[in-house]
Amino acid sequence: MSDINAVAHTQGTIPVFARWFGSWQISVTRRALSLQELTQRYDESADGWQRTIDRLGFPAAYESLLRQIAGGETPSTVLDCGVGTGAMSQALIRELKAPFALTAVDVSPRMLEQAQNALQGTNADVTVRQADAADLPFENGSFDLVITAHMLEHLPDPAGALTEMVRVLKPGGQLIACLTRRTWLGMIVHLKWRTHRVTPTQAKRLLKDAGLENVVSLNFDRAPWCRRLSLACTGRKPV
Ligand SMILES: C[S@@+](CC[C@H](N)C(=O)[O-])C[C@H]1O[C@@H](n2cnc3c(N)ncnc32)[C@H](O)[C@@H]1O
Repeated sequence: MSDINAVAHTQGTIPVFARWFGSWQISVTRRALSLQELTQRYDESADGWQRTIDRLGFPAAYESLLRQIAGGETPSTVLDCGVGTGAMSQALIRELKAPFALTAVDVSPRMLEQAQNALQGTNADVTVRQADAADLPFENGSFDLVITAHMLEHLPDPAGALTEMVRVLKPGGQLIACLTRRTWLGMIVHLKWRTHRVTPTQAKRLLKDAGLENVVSLNFDRAPWCRRLSLACTGRKPV
């Protein structure tokens, strides 16, 4: 399988399998869940979502990841795209300590309610807003840091949404994306959610193609489930 988006971009589908047999290529692709289907499924999953990611160890894994990446800088404006129940934002708040303005977007109103509850009372100045990551309602160059965890892989065109996130990033700003890995655990996630799965090379290619530089991929160093399920990739918008 080559690039995450090679098939998806043109057909709105998720590449699942592709292999050459001599001059024959056998490939399997799957229709992505529509935005409406995703919204409904995440609305239905919202009540139990935090329990699931707590069990898998994501809160500590996100915190440890951000410690590796953040490098002591405190951004003043942060966007969390596909915030869910707010797990990655909460990890950032714990890690940075200094206050910052946090904008959290998601398509699922029930997830946004959970995020609002979880993030209120923290030292971040929080705004939650229903929005599609592929069409963000923000001016160019609005944020110092954009984070997105396990949202891009749901989209038929992750590259389009990444370009949109880079648009709202300030020059010199940083983007941190967590994505589902191309592993057997990633395949289990795919069977339920029809998600893309990526290798570190594919993740880096996605970020570079979106115009970011100094792109690196990182492994989760905490929680065995998170290590097998996810990878992270980060880069900066050129000044
Ligand atoms: C796997 S959950 C991850 C939630 C959270 N970031 C975390 O790490 O726990 C994916 C989230 O992305 C949201 N989402 C899916 N498609 C989206 C889109 N096009 N725009 C914004 N949010 C989206 C879902 O509603 C869901 O809350």
